[in-house]
Amino acid sequence: MLNTKNKAMKKLLKLENELHDLSAAKSVLGWDQETYMPERGIDGRAYSLSTLEVTGHKKFTRKYTGKLIKELESVVIGPEFSDYDRALVRNLKRDYEQKIKLPAKFVKEFSELASRATETWKKARNENNFSVFAPYLEKIVGMKRKEAKYLGYQQFPYDVLLEQYEPGMTQAKLENIFSELKQYTLETLEKIKQSNVKPKTELLKVHYPAEKQLDFSRKVVESMGFDFSAGRMDQSAHPFTSSSHPNDVRITTRIDENYLSTCLTSCIHETGHALYEQGIDIGLARTRLADGASYGFHESQSRLWENYIGKSPAFWRFWFDKLKGVSPENLANVNDEEFVLAMNDVAPSLIRTEADEVTYNLHIILRFEIEKDLINGEIEVKDIPTVWNNKMKEYLGIVPESDSAGCLQDIHWACGDFGYFPTYSLGNMYAAQIYHRLCEEYPDLDEKVARGDLLFIRKWLADKIHKYGKTYQPEDLIKMVTGEELNPKYFREYLKRKFGKIYNF
Ligand code: CO
Repeated sequence: MLNTKNKAMKKLLKLENELHDLSAAKSVLGWDQETYMPERGIDGRAYSLSTLEVTGHKKFTRKYTGKLIKELESVVIGPEFSDYDRALVRNLKRDYEQKIKLPAKFVKEFSELASRATETWKKARNENNFSVFAPYLEKIVGMKRKEAKYLGYQQFPYDVLLEQYEPGMTQAKLENIFSELKQYTLETLEKIKQSNVKPKTELLKVHYPAEKQLDFSRKVVESMGFDFSAGRMDQSAHPFTSSSHPNDVRITTRIDENYLSTCLTSCIHETGHALYEQGIDIGLARTRLADGASYGFHESQSRLWENYIGKSPAFWRFWFDKLKGVSPENLANVNDEEFVLAMNDVAPSLIRTEADEVTYNLHIILRFEIEKDLINGEIEVKDIPTVWNNKMKEYLGIVPESDSAGCLQDIHWACGDFGYFPTYSLGNMYAAQIYHRLCEEYPDLDEKVARGDLLFIRKWLADKIHKYGKTYQPEDLIKMVTGEELNPKYFREYLKRKFGKIYNF
C-alpha cells in the first residue's frame, strides 16, 4: 500500500486528500443535479461547482506541487516504496504538467465556449440544423488543435487528446486495432443479414410496469455484488455511475415502461462500473489512484457484465422465471431461449446508444475516423454531415434522414471530448480478452451463472483488476490479467462463437 511514513509522502497525501475532497464534493453535487435537484436549483449549483473547481485548480497548480513532485520523483525509487507510491507520483506529475502547460486564460475561454457549444448543440439537434452548431464546433476544434500544441505531441495532434482518456494509446495503434475490428465486424454483419433467424424483439416492446422493472433490476444488481450499504440506485434521464469514495458509489437508471431492456441493461452496465469503484482498495481512497485504469478499462467492466454475462443463455436460465413476475401476461408464452434471442438481436440502426453488440463498434470507428481527421486538419467541420452519411452507408448500409439522427446525436464533440469515443470499443475488446481469461479460470462458469451464482465473478475481477485502481497503465494491466497485450482476436472469436450460434453461421 501507500507509504504513509515518509515525510515527503505525508505532504503529498495531505495535498492529495484535500484535492480529492474538493472533487468528491463536486461529484456528489453533480449526482444530485441529475437526480433530485429542483429545477430552479441550477443557478446556485453552477456557482457551487465552479467555486469548487477553481479552488481545486488553484491549489493543485501552485509551485509547491511542482516542487513536491520533483522531490518525490527521486525518493520513490527506493525499496521502501511500492508500485502504488510510484503510480501516485507518476499520475500526479502527468496531471500537473497537463494543467500548467495550458494557460489559465485558455482554460477559462474553453470552458465558457464548451458550455455555450453544448447549449447550441441541444438547439441544433432539436431543430435538426447542423449550421447552427457548426460555428461553435469550428471554434472547439480550433481550440483542441491549439491544446494539442500546448501539450506537445510526437506524431499526431490527436495522440495527445487520446492519451487523456486512454494512457499509452496512440492513433497509429488504434488504426491497426480498428482496421481489423472493422473488417471482421463487417463480415459478421453480412452473415447475420443473410441468416433467416429472426428474433422476436416485439416481446420486449410491450407494457411492463415501472415499479416491477425496478424491483427486478435491483435484485439482479444485488446478486452481482453491488453493496447497497456503500452505494445507491436512483433514476436519471441518462444512466451514469458516480463515485466520491469506494464506500459511496451511486448508479442511476432510466425506465421505459414500453421497452423492457432499457432499465435492466443500464442497471447491469452501470453496476459493472460501480463494482470497479467499490472494489478499489480502501488504502487508495482519497487519492487520484482511486479510479479506473482508463476509460477503456472502466468500460470493459460494464460491458463484460452487460453483454457477456447479462445477455448470456446461462444467466437467463436462472433469471427468466423471476422476470416473469414483472409481467406474467406478456411473458406467458415465451421461453428463456426466445427471450435471450430477443435481447441479442442484431440490426443496423442509426443511434449509437441503442446499437447492438455487433454494430456498436462500427458507430465508434466512424466517429474515430472523423474526429482524428478533424483534429489533424484532414477535414473541416463543414464536411462532417457528408462524411458521416457516406460512412453510415458504407459500414451500416443505412443513411440518417436528418443530422439529428446522424452527426448531431452525441454530446461529446460539443463538450470538446475528442479522443473519448474509441474507449467504448477498447472497452468491448478488453472485455472479450478478460472474459476469455475468466472462462479459463472457471471452466464451469456457465453452470455457476445458471445457478444464480455471480459473486465469484465480482471477486475475481476485484482481485485481478478493481483493487489496483489507477495504479497500472492499461497496457500493463491487461498483460497482468491475461498474460498478453490487447489482442483483437478475442473479440473476433467471441462474435463468431456467440452470434454464429444464434444466427447459424
Ligand atoms: Co459505460
